[in-house]
Amino acid sequence: MRRAEEVLPPDVFAYFAAGAGAERTLARQEQAWDDVLLRPRVLQDVSTTSPATQVLGQPVASPVLVAPTAAHRLAHPDGEVGVARAAKTAGSLLVLSMRASTRLEEVAAEAGPFWQQLYVLQDRGVTDEIARRAVDAGAKALVVTVDTPRVARKRAGFPAALPRTGIVEALDHRDVADPRLMQAADVGPRDLERLARAAGLPVVAKGVLTAEAARDCVAAGASAVIVSTHGGRQLDGVVPAPLALPEVADAVGADAEVYVDGGVRTGSHVLKALALGARAVLVGRPVIWALAADGSDGVRRLLDDLTSDVEESLALAGCPSCSDVGPDLVRR
Ligand code: FNR
Ligand code: LAC
Repeated sequence: MRRAEEVLPPDVFAYFAAGAGAERTLARQEQAWDDVLLRPRVLQDVSTTSPATQVLGQPVASPVLVAPTAAHRLAHPDGEVGVARAAKTAGSLLVLSMRASTRLEEVAAEAGPFWQQLYVLQDRGVTDEIARRAVDAGAKALVVTVDTPRVARKRAGFPAALPRTGIVEALDHRDVADPRLMQAADVGPRDLERLARAAGLPVVAKGVLTAEAARDCVAAGASAVIVSTHGGRQLDGVVPAPLALPEVADAVGADAEVYVDGGVRTGSHVLKALALGARAVLVGRPVIWALAADGSDGVRRLLDDLTSDVEESLALAGCPSCSDVGPDLVRR
């Protein structure tokens, strides 16, 4: 992050770093993981330990996925294609943002397994068109973000460079100011149902913090939910991800997979996430900082380091694999 702050223009750095409101949620998100305390198992055979797992049936090298974040070409010329290559080499899975600065077909051509993130836009026709393009390009799931009926105000607004990054062109549209390309304020369960039906792919609902929301998403056909505060970028003052995770995991039970993001930075954070009921985590800003500092190579190193860190945490906690992690691993 320090290196990224050095190399990025101040307004661009501020855009990536910012949270919403008074940034209370942002300020506390890493601390919330630190505050969860582990209860390691000892006298276990961990001579062979693997962090590999599966998400929606897709094998991955570790339970660390790449979160959807906007405008990677603002961070580094390698952009989304560089991140896609890094995720592929590291055996991770990319969730590609709908606000990417590269056409999704170009990213897909270089990507390993990827899921397409979607906002439901004011124009459902455009939303469905992008979903269709993602399906044609080989996306394995659609990740529908449900916590953004509007984009929250940030301390730092959009950087001056944002309109020139091609975010709108990447959607095959031209007019940056076109309101039809803004997030819809009336996203409902029927949007999840429609997208699941039309795409024929699993739908993942991103931005769930309560049992009620999780149940609504699963009832609308979601195959998985992501417990997320959007990296502290939507409603400020919400319950931090590690505290929301157990109620969501309990609510969905075996009906859907559960993932979590927001402030996950270490193998021990990942272990805590699994113990609290998640199958995998996503990382957002660390990927952007690594990309800014060293392009695609930086992102690959970050993902490899996290995989090694998860492997070590599993071993030290007495768990040969992710599926051995249970609720006994954390103090409630
Ligand atoms: C995001 N996030 C996000 N989420 C989403 O569904 N679609 C998007 O386009 C974006 N864009 C975006 C841009 C930037 C700059 C940030 C920081 C975040 C949220 C993201 O997917 C994820 O939930 C958080 O980033 C996770 O928190 P950490 O890892 O950044 O702490
Ligand atoms: C953000 C939007 C793109 O958080 O989700 O910047």
